[in-house]
Amino acid sequence: MAILPILEFPDERLRKKAKPVATVDAATRQLIDDLLETMYAAPGIGLAANQVNVQQRIIVLDVSEEKNAPLALINPELLDKQGQEESDEGCLSVPGVYEKVRRAEKIRVRALDREGGALEFDAEGLLAVCIQHEIDHLEGKLFVDYLSPLKRQLARKKVRKEQRQRATQPEPTRLRGVA
Ligand code: NI
Repeated sequence: MAILPILEFPDERLRKKAKPVATVDAATRQLIDDLLETMYAAPGIGLAANQVNVQQRIIVLDVSEEKNAPLALINPELLDKQGQEESDEGCLSVPGVYEKVRRAEKIRVRALDREGGALEFDAEGLLAVCIQHEIDHLEGKLFVDYLSPLKRQLARKKVRKEQRQRATQPEPTRLRGVA
């Protein structure tokens, strides 16, 4: 397993649309393991493959308190969305920025699991938010795209500040769940 470097806003590679996975094989599972290791190390609660510059439709998540419930979704799709909910979001590609985003409250998801088996399930709460956030990544979309131009500009400044701090302080400054 390996910890992979995470691209950060405003890197244009985060804007590429990821491609569907045609065959789920050993290389896919290796990538999933690397994504999970990278996500846990960050630490974060979700990560999309194109955040580590791999243009494949794969996301990993773990919204459990104990960090013992890894979930990998290949070619995830939203089949249904219901209700609306606003919650604070952060993103491993936009370090130091937390803003309210409005998303569907309940979703129905279709995907393949790490063995290539078909999955279909309902999600709500933090899991639903996280899945929508990660599927956006696969489309080249970031949570800051939902903010006003002014807030997006401030986010850019905060990321630069975070990057400078990181250069001088080895200790991680990320304290909250980010995806
Ligand atoms: Ni994110």
